[in-house]
Amino acid sequence: MRNIYFVSTAAFWILIGGLWLVGLSAPKTLAETDAPVRKSYSLTEVAAHASPTDCWMAIHGKVYDVTGYLPDHPSRPEVIESWCGKEASVAYDTKTKGRRHSDDADRQLEGYWIGDLK
Ligand code: HEM
Repeated sequence: MRNIYFVSTAAFWILIGGLWLVGLSAPKTLAETDAPVRKSYSLTEVAAHASPTDCWMAIHGKVYDVTGYLPDHPSRPEVIESWCGKEASVAYDTKTKGRRHSDDADRQLEGYWIGDLK
């Protein structure tokens, strides 16, 4: 009877130890690593991406690489392309005509977020 008790107690702790080891070797989630999830960029770095084939914009403290979106933007190309490489919060908020972008535009914009503005 005593043997059964010792064997089952030992088996239990071996199992717990095994699970702990498996947990240690499991890949870490982003929240557990020290690496920043997004990078930070200065306006000077943003300014290095000022062409329609490489277009970053700083909008409300965040940096977006909207290169892939430019062909889909519903305005004349030069309306949005002239903001490549720039701080474009006001332009985005007003569409340069005093009208804000829709919630759908805000959602699409988030898909191009690459980092924060330093
Ligand atoms: C920052 C410079 C930008 C300017 C000056 C600008 C300007 C405009 C203009 C003039 C229009 C068409 C006319 C209108 O709907 O009133 C428009 C529509 C639109 N833009 Fe932009 N845009 C800019 C950036 C962006 C970005 C970065 C996105 C998304 C990634 C975006 C998404 C849209 C969408 C989805 C529409 C359709 C109408 C709406 O949903 O509001 N735009 N924009």
